[in-house]
Amino acid sequence: MSLEITRISSYPGKKDKLLKFFMELLPSKKITKTWEPFAGTLSMSINLLKGFEPIEMFATEKDLGMYSLLHAIQENPVELYESMEELEYCKESYDWATKLRNSGYQGADELQIAKAKYILCNMSINGIDQDGKYRDIDMNTENDLKKYCYAKQVRERFRRQVFENIMRGHKSLQGIKLENVDMMSKFMFRAIDKEMFIFADVPYTDKDLYAVKTDLDWHKNFIQTIIMLQKQGNLNAKIMICNYCKKDLRHDVYCELLKYGFKLVKVTEVVKPTVIRRNTKKKNKETEYVFINYDPIGTIARNRIKTSKDVFGE
Ligand SMILES: C[S@@+](CC[C@H](N)C(=O)[O-])C[C@H]1O[C@@H](n2cnc3c(N)ncnc32)[C@H](O)[C@@H]1O
Repeated sequence: MSLEITRISSYPGKKDKLLKFFMELLPSKKITKTWEPFAGTLSMSINLLKGFEPIEMFATEKDLGMYSLLHAIQENPVELYESMEELEYCKESYDWATKLRNSGYQGADELQIAKAKYILCNMSINGIDQDGKYRDIDMNTENDLKKYCYAKQVRERFRRQVFENIMRGHKSLQGIKLENVDMMSKFMFRAIDKEMFIFADVPYTDKDLYAVKTDLDWHKNFIQTIIMLQKQGNLNAKIMICNYCKKDLRHDVYCELLKYGFKLVKVTEVVKPTVIRRNTKKKNKETEYVFINYDPIGTIARNRIKTSKDVFGE
């Protein structure tokens, strides 16, 4: 089955490329409610989960910039696009967005925050060089014809991309209830709901300029909350947790879940999409796994599923 994918924006850790693998890992029973606690660009909700025609769809994003971008695309797509029209794909735009973000978006309205976030996600990922500096495209170097043409091309491509992302995103985000809070404030009551399907694409622990960071303790606490609910017999939602795992699975904190009703499925090996590695020759392949506590729709090859016995030998 081919999948036509809608992308809202470039984003670290976006899952567009993995959706075809996730398709056969969805639950076999009908899904009536969905929640993406770590929204980002919501690639799972807008491309796969909508197909189930759930009655309710929720998405939580703690980062004010990303939340505002999603919300502005959902509610004010035309105004957002118009505010983007004056935008140049250049250092000034990037500097303006960085300054606003660093001020905690002080004094800015939702459209300005959304615009700044869009610039940060899309210009930075495409334009940062190895030293973390913006690869400046000097629009005034008319003598340097090659450079000028390149800048023009990039600028036109960027404009087209902005328009497509906003308009297609607007359609896809209809019906999704967006929340700008810490997902933990919603976790308990959504996890005990037996009609809920939760897709948790957990954040990275390493340096991440474009999203909310988390440390190892945060992940341990998240896992312990799930285990506590399971021990109490209150973990009723179907949960799919997506993460990169350590090579030696026994030492990965998420594998603790295997002792409490979760199975591990190897999805694929991917090159971790970080800006820092963009310009290096070294291809850092990491294995992407999902943890699920239900029976998946597809017939998953036996060697892709691991249980507690496979990992811990118990
Ligand atoms: C790996 S990204 C999700 C990517 C998304 N699946 C996609 O395809 O674009 C994780 C997201 O979770 C957000 N986040 C981190 N901690 C959070 C928290 N405690 N509550 C809600 N959102 C959080 C980050 O800002 C980031 O946008």
